[in-house]
Amino acid sequence: MMLRKPVFAANWKMNHGPTDAKAFLRTFLVHYARRADRTVAFFPPALTLPAVTDALRDRSDILVGVQNIHWEPKGAFTGEVSAPIARDAGARLVLVGHSERRHIFGETDEQTGLKCAAVAAAGLVPVLCVGEKLDERERGMEEAVVVRQLRAGVARLQPGQIATALVAYEPVWAIGTGRTASPNDASAMHAVVRRVLKELAGERAAHIPVLYGGSVSRGNVAELISAPEVDGVLVGGASLDADGWATIVRA
Ligand code: PGA
Repeated sequence: MMLRKPVFAANWKMNHGPTDAKAFLRTFLVHYARRADRTVAFFPPALTLPAVTDALRDRSDILVGVQNIHWEPKGAFTGEVSAPIARDAGARLVLVGHSERRHIFGETDEQTGLKCAAVAAAGLVPVLCVGEKLDERERGMEEAVVVRQLRAGVARLQPGQIATALVAYEPVWAIGTGRTASPNDASAMHAVVRRVLKELAGERAAHIPVLYGGSVSRGNVAELISAPEVDGVLVGGASLDADGWATIVRA
């Protein structure tokens, strides 16, 4: 048995309302029959989530999550969605610390820690996103940045909770740019992530999928997922088209 099944996760960002999502899934499900050797997940906008969970009601093999939550379970936080609300609406996974949250909306390391804890407390699974910016890589700081983000993100989780999380390494310079990390660079950073996870969660860390994200396409997905230590992909732009995404998840 494979220790870690490859994970193919679609991050739709601020794309696809309920109507588009239903049409997308009608096409996608025709092209993607249930497969035991991989996991497929969708991260639609929060308001699209019920349409997606409804379209997938006969496909419990496909997971659904939200792209962000607030760390408080409820209260006067206009415009926010909490982990318990996301769970009630059918989410099982939550992206935390996506680079757009960090760099457009100013999310801090400390906040990613609070969010992962809130996700775990609600019985959901955090997908902690980490990744360095171009200038950080140029200054040779990529490892230090990723390790700092990783430690802060899981700081409030028990080792057993860390062991059930997912991590996505997404170098910021590769997101939406058409520039992908080489399989070697991805493998090297994934090995660093795995080492830190092992230090924090012990042998159980061997079960944590570490995904790569950043300009993954149907042209490069096979090479990336066969790279050592790469357990799957988190895909933005190339997940928006149903036929293209079905090709990627069959890689
Ligand atoms: P991209 O985005 O595939 O469009 O580069 C990936 C992500 O931001 O998760």
